[in-house]
Amino acid sequence: MDTLHSLAQAAYVVAGVLFIVSLAGLSRQETAKTGNRAGKVGMTLALAATVMLALLDSERSAASTAILIALALAVGAVIGIWRARSIEMTQMPEMIAMLHSFVGMAAVLVGFNSYLTEGNGSGAAHLVEVFLGVFIGAITLTGSIVAYLKLAAKIKSAPLTLPARNLLNLVAVAVCLGLMAWFIASPSIVPLALMTAIALAVGWHLVAAIGGGDMPVVVSMLNSYSGWAAAAAGFMLSNTLLIITGSLVGASGALLSYIMCRAMNRQFISVILGGFGAEEGTVVVAGDGEELEHRETTAVEVAELLKAADSVIITPGYGMAVAKAQYPVAELTSRLRAMGIKVHFGVHPVAGRLPGHMNVLLAEAKVPYDIVLELDEINPDFPTTDVVLVIGANDTVNPAAEDDPGSPIAGMPVLEVWKAHDVIVFKRSMAVGYAGVQNPLFYRDNTAMLFGDAKARVEDIIQAL
Ligand code: TAP
Repeated sequence: MDTLHSLAQAAYVVAGVLFIVSLAGLSRQETAKTGNRAGKVGMTLALAATVMLALLDSERSAASTAILIALALAVGAVIGIWRARSIEMTQMPEMIAMLHSFVGMAAVLVGFNSYLTEGNGSGAAHLVEVFLGVFIGAITLTGSIVAYLKLAAKIKSAPLTLPARNLLNLVAVAVCLGLMAWFIASPSIVPLALMTAIALAVGWHLVAAIGGGDMPVVVSMLNSYSGWAAAAAGFMLSNTLLIITGSLVGASGALLSYIMCRAMNRQFISVILGGFGAEEGTVVVAGDGEELEHRETTAVEVAELLKAADSVIITPGYGMAVAKAQYPVAELTSRLRAMGIKVHFGVHPVAGRLPGHMNVLLAEAKVPYDIVLELDEINPDFPTTDVVLVIGANDTVNPAAEDDPGSPIAGMPVLEVWKAHDVIVFKRSMAVGYAGVQNPLFYRDNTAMLFGDAKARVEDIIQAL
C-alpha cells in the first residue's frame, strides 16, 4: 500500500516537472509542439496517479469507486472530445472562458465538501483555506460565465456601469472579510453560504462592468483566478500536484494579463475597475464637421499594385480568422516572394480573439516563422514599405490610438500601417472592430478599401496575378 502511495506522489512530482517543461516549450513557436506533448504526458500521469490514489484511499469498495470514476471520465471525455472537435478557432476564447467557470465551480464544491466532511474541528488554517477557495472559486464561476456570454455575443459586450460600482465591490469584499472572521471564530455553514452568494454576485458584476477591448485581459485574468482556485482546492485536499498546477496557471495567467495590458497600453488596475469600451461607433468627421469619404479598389488593381511593389507587409486580424483566409494568404505570400518581392507579416499582440491567434493560423498555413514579426520589430519598417495589406484587422491598425487622446483606445500601441506608401484594407463593410470605435485609417488618402470576404478577395488577387 505505502509503496503505491509513494509511487503516486512520485508521479505527481514528475507530472509537475512536465507541466513546467510544457509551459517553457509553449513560449516559442518552434518548441510549442514539444511543449504540448510534455503537457499531455504530464496530464496522463497525473490522472493515472489520482485514480490510483482514489482507489487506494476510498472508503467504499475499490470496484464501486472504479465504476464511479470510469463513469465521470467517460462523460467528461465524450463532452470534451465533442466540443474540441466542433469548436471553431474563432470560438476558442469563449470555450476557454466556459472551462474556467468549471474550475471555479469545482473549487466551490470542493470547499463545501471539505467543510462538511471534515467538520468544525479542523483548525483555523483549514477553515481559511476553505473560505478563500470558495471565495475565489465563486468569483471565477460567475465572472467566467459573464465573459463567456459576452464573447459568444449572447449578451451585450458594453460595460455595465452602475453608479459607485467600485465602492460596491469594495463593500462586498469588506463584508466577506467580516464573514471570514465569523466563520473562523464560530464555524458554521451560514457565513460560508452568505459569502458564496456575495462572491457569486461580485464575480458577475466585476466582469459585467468590463467591456469591449478589455475582454482578452479579462479572460486571461480569469485564467489566473481559476489557477488560484485550483491551488486553494489543492490545499484543502492536501494534493501537492493541484497546488503546483494551480500556482503555475495562476502565475502564468497573471503574467499574460500583465503582458496584454502592456500591449494595449492599459493599466491592469483600471482594467479590473472596468467601464472601458463604452463608446459605440460614431461617424468619423473632419475638423470642420464634414463627413469623411473612403476610396474603394478592386482585386485587379491591388494585383497591379503588388506587381509593382518591392516590399509588402501583411497585417492580419480577426477578420482573417473569420474568413479562414490564412491558406490563400500563405499562397499569395509565396507567389509574391517567388516574384522577388519582400514580404513580412506584422502581428499585433492582441490581434484576433486570443493570445497568439494569428501566429497559430499562420503556422497552420505554413507561413515561415522568420517572416512573421512582432509589433515592435515591424513598426520601424512601415515608412519604407510600398504596400500594406490589412487583412481583417481594425482596432490593431487604428491611428486614433496615437492621434486622438480622447479615443477609448488612446495610448494602445498599434501597427503604424498608414506610414506605408499604399494601404489596402480587406473587410466586408465600414463596420467598427471589436472595441466599437471608428477607424480614421479607412479615410486616409493612401488607403483604399477592398470590400468582401477576405478569403474570396485574396483568391481574386491570386487569380489576377
Ligand atoms: P477587430 O478590430 O476585431 O476587427 C476585425 C475586422 O475584421 C472587423 O472590422 C470586420 O469588419 C472584419 N471582418 C470580419 N469578418 C471578415 C471577413 N469574413 N472578411 C473580411 N473581413 C472581415 O480585429 P483586430 O484588429 O484583430 O483587433 C482585435 C480586437 O479584439 C482588439 O480590440 C482586441 O483588444 C480584441 N480582442 C483581442 C483578443 C486577443 S487576446 N487577441 C481577445 C478578445 C478581444 P467587417 O465586419 O466590415 O467585415
